[in-house]
Amino acid sequence: MSMINIQDVTFSYTGKRLILKDINLTVEQGEWVAILGHNGSGKSTLAKLLVGLLEPKSGTIAIDGVLLTPDTLYEERKKIGIVFQNPDNQFVGVSVRDDIAFGMENLNVPREEMLEKIQFYAEKVGMSDLLEKEPSTLSGGQKQRVAIAGILAMQTKIMIFDEATSMLDPTSRNELMAYISTLHDEGITIIMITHDMEEALYADRLVVLKEGAIFEDDAKATLLRKPERFREARLDLPMALKIQSGLSKTDEKEKRVRDFLWEFVSAK
Ligand SMILES: Nc1ncnc2c1ncn2[C@@H]1O[C@H](COP(=O)(O)OP(=O)(O)O)[C@@H](O)[C@H]1O
Ligand SMILES: [Mg+2]
Repeated sequence: MSMINIQDVTFSYTGKRLILKDINLTVEQGEWVAILGHNGSGKSTLAKLLVGLLEPKSGTIAIDGVLLTPDTLYEERKKIGIVFQNPDNQFVGVSVRDDIAFGMENLNVPREEMLEKIQFYAEKVGMSDLLEKEPSTLSGGQKQRVAIAGILAMQTKIMIFDEATSMLDPTSRNELMAYISTLHDEGITIIMITHDMEEALYADRLVVLKEGAIFEDDAKATLLRKPERFREARLDLPMALKIQSGLSKTDEKEKRVRDFLWEFVSAK
C-alpha cells in the first residue's frame, strides 16, 4: 500500500487561477522524494494539501491507504510531521521546550518519555542549551532547528520538510541530512521540498513542479542525465554537474574527473 496517493488533484486559492493542476503522485513507504520547483510553482501549497490544511478543489489524497476527509483528518495527521517553510507559523509555546513538545502532546506521548525525547532531539539539532528560551527571541536558523526537533520527536511515518534547512549553516545542514538518512534507512518516508539542488541529491527520486503541474518525476540518476529539464524548470544544476559540463569528453584525465563527479551526484 502506498504511503501517499494523490489522484487528479487541482487546487485554487481564489477559485479562479489554478495553483495546482491535475497532480498525480504516489509515494511508497520508505522513499525519499525531493520536490523541486522554482518559486511559486506550488510546492508549499502541495505540502499543505498533504497535511489537510488546504482542501483540493477536485481529486483525492490518501495517506497510508486512508482518504483524507474531515472525518479522517485528525487521525491521519498523526502519521505526518511537517516543518513549514516559515517556522514562525509553527510556534505556539512560551519556550523552546514547549514547542518541541507540542506535536508529541497531540500524540499522547507519556510525560517521562516526552521529557527524554525533548532532550534527545534538542541535542540532535544543537538546541539543548536554549530549551527555556522564548521562541520569538530566536534567530531564523534556531527557529528552524526547533521546528525540526519537534517533528523528529513525533517519529511519524512520513516527514515533510518544506525548505526547512534554508537558514542553517552548511555543517548543521549536513549533520541533519545525515540524521535524516538514518531515519530513511529505518523506513521513514521523507518528502523534502527544496530549490537547493545539493539538498535534492540526498533523495532517491526527484519530482519537479513547474507552474503548478508535475514536469518531471523520475529516479534521481535518470533525471540528472537530462540537465536541460532542470533549466526548463528554471532550476539550478548541482555544482558537480556544472563543473562536469565544462570538462572535455575525450581527454583521458578530464574524463576520469567527469566519471568521478557523476559517481558523486548519483550515489549520494
Ligand atoms: N494564501 C494564498 N492566497 C493566494 N495565493 C497564494 C497563497 N499562497 C500562495 N499563493 C500563490 O500560489 C502560488 C504557489 O505558491 P507556493 O505553493 O507557495 O509556491 P512555492 O512553495 O513553490 O514557492 C504562487 O503564485 C503564490 O503566489
Ligand atoms: Mg514554498
